[in-house]
Amino acid sequence: MGDNVQVAVRLRPFNERERVRNAKLVIKMENNTTTITDPDGKYPEKKFTFDFSYWSHDGYNEREDGYLEPDGSKYADQAKVFDDLGKGVLENAWKGFNCSLFAYGQTGSGKSYSMVGYNPNKGIIPITCEELFKGIEEKKLTDDAEKEAEYQVSVSMLEIYNETVKDLLNVSSFKKGGLRVRQHPQKGFYVEQLQVAPVSNYSDIEARIAEGTRNRTLAATNMNATSSRAHTIVAINFAQKAKNEAGKSMTKTSIINLVDLAGSERADSTGATGERLKEGSMINKSLLCLGNCIKALADQQEGKHISVPYRDSILTRLLKNALGGNSKTVMIAALSPADINYDETLSTLRFADRAKSIKTKAVVNESPTDKLIREMKDEIKRLQELLENQGSGAVVVQGVSPDDVEEMRKAQEENLRRNQEEMDMMNQTWQQRLEEQRQVSQKLLDVEKTKQEARKTIPHLWNLNEDPMLTGMVLHLTPPGVSTIGNVDPASIVLKGLNIKKDHAVIENDSNSLIYLIPSGSESKLLINGKEITERIELRHNDRIMFGSNHLYVFHHPQDAAKQVKEGKVVEKVSFNSAQEEIAQNKGFDMNRAGKSKEDMLLQEDLIQIMPMVNEANAISEELDKKMLYEIALISPQARGLKDGRTEVSVKAKKLTNGNEFVWGRNDFIDRKFAMQEVYQMYVEEDEDWDKKHQGDYPFSESDDYEVIIGTCYLYVQSLAYLMDMEDNLAIRSFRGTEEGLMSVEAHPFSEAGELLVDEYVEEPGELVGKDIQFMINVKKILALPKRYHKVWCQYKFLLSDEWNKSQEIDASLNSELNFKKMFKTFPVTQQLMDEFENSPVVIQVWGKQRTEPDDPARVTMTTKELLALEDSVMTYTAPKKGVQNRASHESKELRRKESEINNLHVAVGNAKKAQQEIESDNVRLMRENDDAKREMMSMRRKLELLTGMVEEAKHKGDAMLLVKRMDHILKRGEDLASKEILRLIKQIKQQEKQSVPKKFLVTPPPHKSAPPSPPHHSNGASKRKDSSSSSSRSSTPAKVNKSAKSGVCLLL
Ligand SMILES: Nc1ncnc2c1ncn2[C@@H]1O[C@H](COP(=O)(O)OP(=O)(O)OP(=O)(O)O)[C@@H](O)[C@H]1O
Ligand SMILES: [Mg+2]
Repeated sequence: MGDNVQVAVRLRPFNERERVRNAKLVIKMENNTTTITDPDGKYPEKKFTFDFSYWSHDGYNEREDGYLEPDGSKYADQAKVFDDLGKGVLENAWKGFNCSLFAYGQTGSGKSYSMVGYNPNKGIIPITCEELFKGIEEKKLTDDAEKEAEYQVSVSMLEIYNETVKDLLNVSSFKKGGLRVRQHPQKGFYVEQLQVAPVSNYSDIEARIAEGTRNRTLAATNMNATSSRAHTIVAINFAQKAKNEAGKSMTKTSIINLVDLAGSERADSTGATGERLKEGSMINKSLLCLGNCIKALADQQEGKHISVPYRDSILTRLLKNALGGNSKTVMIAALSPADINYDETLSTLRFADRAKSIKTKAVVNESPTDKLIREMKDEIKRLQELLENQGSGAVVVQGVSPDDVEEMRKAQEENLRRNQEEMDMMNQTWQQRLEEQRQVSQKLLDVEKTKQEARKTIPHLWNLNEDPMLTGMVLHLTPPGVSTIGNVDPASIVLKGLNIKKDHAVIENDSNSLIYLIPSGSESKLLINGKEITERIELRHNDRIMFGSNHLYVFHHPQDAAKQVKEGKVVEKVSFNSAQEEIAQNKGFDMNRAGKSKEDMLLQEDLIQIMPMVNEANAISEELDKKMLYEIALISPQARGLKDGRTEVSVKAKKLTNGNEFVWGRNDFIDRKFAMQEVYQMYVEEDEDWDKKHQGDYPFSESDDYEVIIGTCYLYVQSLAYLMDMEDNLAIRSFRGTEEGLMSVEAHPFSEAGELLVDEYVEEPGELVGKDIQFMINVKKILALPKRYHKVWCQYKFLLSDEWNKSQEIDASLNSELNFKKMFKTFPVTQQLMDEFENSPVVIQVWGKQRTEPDDPARVTMTTKELLALEDSVMTYTAPKKGVQNRASHESKELRRKESEINNLHVAVGNAKKAQQEIESDNVRLMRENDDAKREMMSMRRKLELLTGMVEEAKHKGDAMLLVKRMDHILKRGEDLASKEILRLIKQIKQQEKQSVPKKFLVTPPPHKSAPPSPPHHSNGASKRKDSSSSSSRSSTPAKVNKSAKSGVCLLL
């Protein structure tokens, strides 16, 4: 039957940023039930049950040594988690089962905290190792001498990053392409040439894991890689050899896989599936495949006959046993408590819930030792024969290409080599192997030990990394004398990566007293405490230094530190985040959190994340001569067609050769940046195919046919709620707030039968509720677009619907006739619809495609660097001036460039805000106009009724003729009498007067034909009734109406 995967969830405390922004807690735990609440209240609470639920959110005290211990019974500390999960793993390992423990969760949710821990809060991996050796020691003391027991522990540590496997215990494996994953007929998938280091005690294993973490840090920094996108697997191989009752030597083996997975968020939020996954960077592939495998395994448990796609990624191949085979498996799902992570946390809970149903079949791995050796010999023989046959062409497999045969031959050769190796190892005594390993690693460990000693007295640099696990792992000493910094040997400190020059800088240490940092040339990028330097500068204790684009270090100066303490200065604790904030602040961003809304703070965080990436993308474009420029674009929710929400950080990419522009969303850009990084890495490694890695324009650019959003406009449709039609020319504004063109648009009410409603206006929108009325919007034309667009179309969501209404794509010209008519009916009309008409504009997005402009011949021959220099916001570096730079008042051209970049951003934000304010004030004005128009309309109606009454009365009484006739005519036909007719009437009246009819009316000149009541519209264009004739007149001064009750005499002034 097998065992179910055991699943635990663990909730971490709020981090500092969450505390500052008063994050809301969305998780509750009661016994084994975890409840998650939607902070927006849109979805109901969701409940999940797991084998273990750990509340590590609050209810703890920090001991003096830094250990977090419970202050009551609620808090689950590291010891509790180990007792429940780690102990079980160990017990199973002793029994000879393979065990796997993996941590899943979003970036920063606490995976590494549970798995590795932060001193002194040690996680499961170190405690398990410690306990394993304790157990071995105890066993050795109590073991029966007859058994001749031997315990062998060895460790391997690997990283999967971007579908490439690196052996973290062997830096020479960090070569192009990494190590290969192969399949063994019995053992399943394994990593070829992975170092499995024998260890004899806990400090050995601790030193090995520290070495692996250090290597990982260096690799991540040198390659610009983001560690949260890497999976780390520490495998402990545990073998127990002993004689059984019958005196036969038996070997019991167990592999304990401890897996710290990459942060899960990107796996599902970018939508990186299908083609994009193939095309784009492979960074998420492993995690996506893990999700697919878990889903398939869970479906299998429900009786579905589907295969599990283990083969689709490196991670799932290596975890095949852990997931569905010979292993006892435990999963910890790390949960973030904050409201903004609701979606990710919910998806982690769902993932964990699915994992619960998976079953594995663990077996005790025990065999007679000689049997193991015999099996291996047989395997070698088999492989040798296979190889010989292939060599003579005896093996012909139908349908298999010669390339595949060659590939298979190579795989078998490798299997053979490996088996031979294993045989040799088996024949060697354990002691021999231990000794061999010790010699190899001793040198490395000695160097590290000396460094650790030296750091107490010698000034040095220590690294900062976004992953706290990797912070402080790299140390560079700067002893008295000169230390050179560059990207190749013989620099004393070698830093590889973007923007690090061969001779980048020099650190001059004058007897551990005065220490200077000196840039080696005009292009050496160096930031000190967030400020750029181009000249020699004195270094002080705790200074933060950025070399190039991504080597961030803190300078430790023991002598200066002592001096500062003496002077009573408080030395602040530096973290990766505080150093990044400092950089952003110096670039002009307001990093002050006080008084900021949650949205503003999130925007701040996004900017801090994206700004350095945009800089890196520009640096890569420059180095690979891609002729592209990237800039941050802030896109308001309105510009995205939403009524409210957050301003989003996007990136605008511009082709420097023809000026075409594209805008990418944040996630799209992040994925592209990783893909750019991959291409750059291949280029650095002198891979001939670096430029063929991706087809087409991905990841640096887009084809010119890429659809871009030109801008948006706001259509106010209040008039429809009064059954009035409208016509207007609306401004099309880009995300920067600039006007890109105009849209000519009209809207009309229609009857149920589809007839245009004329003159049927109502006083209150409420009057329409319950009636069957249709509305039509016609986007007639798009005018005055920039020349670079050759196609244009528009789309909008109509109020209560989520569906986009998209026009046809047409050729763009100065006057593009779109005539996009769309009829809407909600039968009967609801109050909600009327409210929407009155209160919300329809946001119409205008999209287009750009012309494939012939590249500007003058620009084609220029390098990216020269082209960038032509752009307003980007300038090249200046040559450094001689002399020591004044730290306080440093101003360089580069800084000004950054400032101008920031200014542009501020202008963009300002424009976006202004546009929004304009819209808001337009709204207010419209409401006012709407009210005025309504009032006016009502007064007109009253006048009309009054006039009609008077005319009827006068007619009835036979009262005088001219005015009554004319008014009557106007009321009926909407037009005045012809002058001939008037002359005739005057004649007639005069005749009547002669016959002494009393004069009853004072006649005023006939009213002018005038515009109807204005619909409630703000437009610069004319809003009008379809039928502009009206019996009432509209004048700026309301007409005064006097009516004599007695005689019905009416005096119009
Ligand atoms: N149970 C806990 N108690 C106290 N602090 C915790 C706990 N879990 C996590 N933290 C803190 O939260 C931060 C992030 O945790 P951690 O580094 O383990 O995240 P992660 O899931 O490994 O992230 P990544 O995917 O980036 O590697 C760390 O500073 C860690 O100290
Ligand atoms: Mg981690």
